[in-house]
Amino acid sequence: MADKKLLFHLSDIHFGLEDNHALDWVEREIAERRPDAVAITGDLTMRARTDEFAAAEKWIHSLQAPVTVEPGNHDLPNYYLPSRYLNPLGRFEAFREVVEKRIELPGIALVPLNTNVPAQPRLNWSKGWITERALTDCLDQIDALPEGGRALVCVHHPLRETGTKGTALTRNGEKALDALAQRNVLGVLSGHVHDAFDIMEQTPHGPVRMVGAGTLSQRIRSTPPSFNELTWDGENLHVCVRNLEDIDTPAMMIDDVPENALPPRSEGEPVAPIGRVPRTDPPVH
Ligand SMILES: [Fe+2]
Ligand SMILES: [Fe+2]
Repeated sequence: MADKKLLFHLSDIHFGLEDNHALDWVEREIAERRPDAVAITGDLTMRARTDEFAAAEKWIHSLQAPVTVEPGNHDLPNYYLPSRYLNPLGRFEAFREVVEKRIELPGIALVPLNTNVPAQPRLNWSKGWITERALTDCLDQIDALPEGGRALVCVHHPLRETGTKGTALTRNGEKALDALAQRNVLGVLSGHVHDAFDIMEQTPHGPVRMVGAGTLSQRIRSTPPSFNELTWDGENLHVCVRNLEDIDTPAMMIDDVPENALPPRSEGEPVAPIGRVPRTDPPVH
């Protein structure tokens, strides 16, 4: 059995409207527990402002662990469109090395999948969109992992609706989930909806586990600020939602999957169950 790995999954810090009390606590936890890696799944800032990115850079560089950051919809410049189109991740310049970074640990890797695009043919540009290029790039990285290695895919927008108050409505999310189901993927780590969840989603090629982290900002929705502590023992991934209110993990998680979140089915196919599907680790492909 592989050595145990400890991973911290943080999200939606929204510097500019961050929760400093929660951030000080997380920083102390990282210093004491020394996780093998920290995944931050997007929305580092509130309005992609220079001062917000400067605060984010300072905080991330203070962390005593390898860090990977996914961009979120709040991290793309909103008010200066040339920057948004030509260099959407330009504001990350001072710490570009951690953005969309693949972190490989023995037996397990964190692999990025970008769910943001500079423009969308719909009114709400805050929602997720996976381009062919982003998906191919992610799948290539998974396929290049050492044999038997498991992947935890890091995204900002959940790939499918998960019953949270906030929605992601990620275009091509179903397609991405199906492609991931055909690979050695242990789970998909996401943010954006500001509430935690741990759900097994069905695809035509089998189940994919989706794990969402809450927020560390003042923009809370249904639950107080939190982050996910993931423990991987080589066989099982255990998810614990850590928070300052001492609320237990099940109570911190959203577990209703709305009916319209189910995958489309053809006639004669059995109806997938509504609600959380009992979680088991997906098969190794
Ligand atoms: Fe957010
Ligand atoms: Fe977001």
